[in-house]
Amino acid sequence: MHCVRKVTDKITWIGGEDRRLALFESAYPIPDGVSYNSYFVDDEKTMVLDAVDRSVSERFFENLAFMLQGRKLDYLVVDHMEPDHAATVGEVVRRYPEVTVVCNAKIEVMLRQYFDFDTGNGRVLIVKEGDTLSTGAMQFTFVMAPMVHWPEVMMTYEITNKILFSADAFGTFGALNGCMFADQVDFERDYMDEARRYYTNIVGKYGTQVKAALKKAGTIEIDMICPLHGFVWRRNIGDFLEKYVAWSHYMPEEQGVLLIYTSVYGDTENAAQILAGKLVEKGVKVKMYDASVTHSSYLVAEAFRFSHIVLATTTYNAGIFISMENLVHDIVNHNLQNRTFALIENGSWAPTAAGLMRKELSALKGAEFIENTITIKSAVKPDHLDELEAMAQALAESAGAELPAAPAPVPTAQIDNTAMFKLSYGLFVLSAQDGDKHNGCIINTAVQLTDSPKRITIAVNKANFTHDMIMKTRKFNVSILATSAPFALFQHFGFQSGRDVEKFDGKYEIRVSANGVVYLNQYANAFLSGRVIDALDYGTHTLFVADVTEAQVLSKEPSMTYAYYFEHVKPKPQPKEEQQVGWVCKICGYVYEGEDLPADFVCPLCKHGAEDFEKLK
Ligand code: FEO
Repeated sequence: MHCVRKVTDKITWIGGEDRRLALFESAYPIPDGVSYNSYFVDDEKTMVLDAVDRSVSERFFENLAFMLQGRKLDYLVVDHMEPDHAATVGEVVRRYPEVTVVCNAKIEVMLRQYFDFDTGNGRVLIVKEGDTLSTGAMQFTFVMAPMVHWPEVMMTYEITNKILFSADAFGTFGALNGCMFADQVDFERDYMDEARRYYTNIVGKYGTQVKAALKKAGTIEIDMICPLHGFVWRRNIGDFLEKYVAWSHYMPEEQGVLLIYTSVYGDTENAAQILAGKLVEKGVKVKMYDASVTHSSYLVAEAFRFSHIVLATTTYNAGIFISMENLVHDIVNHNLQNRTFALIENGSWAPTAAGLMRKELSALKGAEFIENTITIKSAVKPDHLDELEAMAQALAESAGAELPAAPAPVPTAQIDNTAMFKLSYGLFVLSAQDGDKHNGCIINTAVQLTDSPKRITIAVNKANFTHDMIMKTRKFNVSILATSAPFALFQHFGFQSGRDVEKFDGKYEIRVSANGVVYLNQYANAFLSGRVIDALDYGTHTLFVADVTEAQVLSKEPSMTYAYYFEHVKPKPQPKEEQQVGWVCKICGYVYEGEDLPADFVCPLCKHGAEDFEKLK
């Protein structure tokens, strides 16, 4: 019997789910199954977007026949040739000989490799980037996305309804459990770990290509994402996109230690357990795994999540113990970047594992090592306790300590967001430098903490590139903005990411302070240099505590305050001849057009939520 699910009035899911498969791609355990999504377009012309894996073909063809109700199938779009989607393309063509297969040139080559049907008789329509195809009320265009996940991959975008058919991107392991949309489940709680495991293991290696695809996606409006595995996204798309930005940039999501060990007789595990206890005593978040027990796909995903990774293993056959060797290969093959490693080795007569692991891991871009590698000969001895303490201390200093979670708010207390606007702030350009890269962003949270020694705090959103640079280099400058700073400066440093543009591109006059970081020598009346001594995790933001290492006055102009910015710098909404219906962001002035502002709306410019919007009067 058919089993279909409505996505929109004209689009229906006709895929299938598999809970019997043990290993996806014969490599990745999928204890909660997987879905193979296929979408049927019910328009003047009929269209199927991607076929399915052979395992669910019976249901797929029942679903397709049900949707067609005897009509002709006009188009089959093939976005990706991997057989978990394309294995049934040949059978679709056999059953519906009048169908036109829509694909790009690389896919056409693979069609000939996989199937016997003749692609040269007009039944294949080759499309290129930007080509369009109409089914009547709906207009489709095509976006090439090579290496997300294979070289031939493309995505299909329906222009009228702003729907992106994203191929493997934005998918997840796990069957759908009767749902169709990510907002019908607690995705963060129940599916995010599997989405991360799916992303990191399937396309984690290809961060550059994913970034290129995200850049293209950033140029089109997207109201819905229909991936080939997992749920359809129609709400909170920005949240999931942010995860993809973090993953594709190899940015850790958690400041803490992933501690993975293998242990033949328990002594290496003993060292790992002692280290874990010392780390937790110092307030560091720790997650432990035995690599001989947990499948490496889970560990690769966790390695993408955590900032610091400890690997503790035995020397075996003069090399690295089997399961740890496999994991290290896996991490290197997935191109993980910007992580700090600490290594512990054991070996009763010739320990070599740490050196071999370090050699392999050194190939990773941005890999750093805690210098005091620990060598155990057979069992942990009293002297090792000092070494483990030193390693824990070094990791704690590098990873930063976490405070206990903030207490829950008193249930009856009311929070009026506008009360927060009564706080007085300054406005600052926060700058950082990592190698050749200089970057900066706008903050309003620089505060003097103590006078002797001179210390300041800054709170920085984790989504900012500058945040990650400070996390890594532990140094920054704060340029204190003066009242002459123009709105364009706030746009330049605040409304675009240093991941995409060079912020210090000569537009504003800069100088370099003694710590090697640039500061603004224009529109700023002073600058402070900071060396981070503590980094406290507060969810969306990190609070950096820093010693002031340099401070200079640059002009006598008054400092820019938040209130001055709103009153004199930020452009006021222009009066319109016709009454404009919509909502304006109180932070940056962005206007959302529409009577009702969705509760989960996030400002595309300054990333503030719906609570910071007010209705246009
Ligand atoms: Fe879901 Fe790359 O196939």
